[in-house]
Amino acid sequence: MKSITSIIDTLIARLSGLDSKEPVIPPVERLAPYDGRTPLIQFGEDQIWTLNDSYQGTQVFGGTGSGKTSGSGAAIARSLLRQGCGGLVLTAKPDERALWEDYCAETGRELTVFGPDTGLVFNFLEYEYARGGLGAGLASNVAGLFVGIAEANQGKSGSMDPYWTNSLNQLLCRAIDLTTQAKGTLSLSMLRDLIMSAPQSMEEANSDGWKSSSYCAECLCEAAAKCTEENAPDFDHTNIYWQREFPSLGDRTRSSIVSMFSVIADGFLTGPMRKLFCKGLNILPEETHVGRIILVDLPVEVYNEVGVRAQLVWKLCWQRATARREPDKDGGMPCFLWADEAQFFTSSGDLKFQATARSKRASTVYLTQNLPTYFDRVGKDRTNALLGNLQTKIFHANGCHETNTYAANTIARGVTTRASTNVSAQGMSFGESETVDYTVPPAEFQRLRRGGEENNRLVDAFIFQAGRVWPSTGESYLKASFKQPETQRLI
Ligand SMILES: Nc1ncnc2c1ncn2[C@@H]1O[C@H](COP(=O)(O)OP(=O)(O)O)[C@@H](O)[C@H]1O
Ligand SMILES: [Mg+2]
Repeated sequence: MKSITSIIDTLIARLSGLDSKEPVIPPVERLAPYDGRTPLIQFGEDQIWTLNDSYQGTQVFGGTGSGKTSGSGAAIARSLLRQGCGGLVLTAKPDERALWEDYCAETGRELTVFGPDTGLVFNFLEYEYARGGLGAGLASNVAGLFVGIAEANQGKSGSMDPYWTNSLNQLLCRAIDLTTQAKGTLSLSMLRDLIMSAPQSMEEANSDGWKSSSYCAECLCEAAAKCTEENAPDFDHTNIYWQREFPSLGDRTRSSIVSMFSVIADGFLTGPMRKLFCKGLNILPEETHVGRIILVDLPVEVYNEVGVRAQLVWKLCWQRATARREPDKDGGMPCFLWADEAQFFTSSGDLKFQATARSKRASTVYLTQNLPTYFDRVGKDRTNALLGNLQTKIFHANGCHETNTYAANTIARGVTTRASTNVSAQGMSFGESETVDYTVPPAEFQRLRRGGEENNRLVDAFIFQAGRVWPSTGESYLKASFKQPETQRLI
């Protein structure tokens, strides 16, 4: 029992204000702009998906109409835009432009559309030249771009024999060396003219006809005339390639290498691509590091493979520019690469890029329907390697058994090995059998809500992030629902 004096003391203290303790408010850490811990999506208390998480790469799977675009896609895109990120958006469908115009309008951002009649031009040779000038760096950068495009879509085989990539690389390096040594400048049509007029045999290389009338011979003469003591070894190297190595290649080998080059070059030298990629430079991938959002409006559905290659030029230049960036010197804004129907745009450099993406503050978001769409385009090995590097995986409703099994395995608790005993007419045998301990069985992925008015505009997905346990499930996965926007855009 409290004594009278202590009660009086308490009363006096209260009246004089001494006793009134301020409620303890834990200090709220204000995050600096672009802090990696900035939440992008909140899946309930303590369940936030941050900028740092996005830097580790995201893959969204879901059948057509499962809600990839209007569910998780819309949520991530809007959130990245609200954070002020710049980015590069590649397009598969013609209406993706309008979709991103909507996103930008909603988030108070401005969209830059690169496409026909936008007044923007991206001569990637000039871009490479502007970075480093003529020289060995230019040759290997441009050659690397072509090899990157040639390698990107190898179909089911997945990868290109290094012999071919080396040969294509060598062809381009020698062609760029010769053009720049002879003419002091570089264009795609010059490269094509040079390669197409190169000698097809030793006999032709030694013939007067070829020497007097071919563009290749003309370049060799001009380069020889400009050759100084200092660059004589470089010229010798170039000269030997065009006069001896190239004409001595087997006919089929030579024509394969040349056709790898011309398939890519021709796409840029004709039609709308010529205007966009062969003359002038008034937009740079680096601008996405300071908040510009560039949508390449050359959708695959309209431009087919030429559209894929044109977008790959953008993507590869962007990845290289981003790998070079120094966020502590350029303001450190996060940036993103976005590709719906990502199977068209994956390339072998993605793995290397992803390894440094966090330090470059770059988020990659890939959306695709299912695993077979990747396998068809880039093969199983590369698909698996790519998926291993995109740490957040979002699985929407899917009718594809292979993808659903992959999803179920990804979030499974593990494989249990059980001892088994088999009794047969021959006697008893002992063995082991493996069973996957599914947390979510494959069939469950067929039952997820796909949005629309009938589902109250709710889209379900399972979210998995490598190495993360979500508090709400105590497991490696989280089931989330995304609300579709009130107004429906028909995509
Ligand atoms: N804002 C919306 N409100 C209601 N239904 C929508 C909305 N946006 C899309 N839908 C419908 O939801 C389903 C999922 O659409 P979508 O996100 O485009 O799928 P996906 O990108 O996976 O093909 C479709 O049936 C579509 O018609
Ligand atoms: Mg879609």
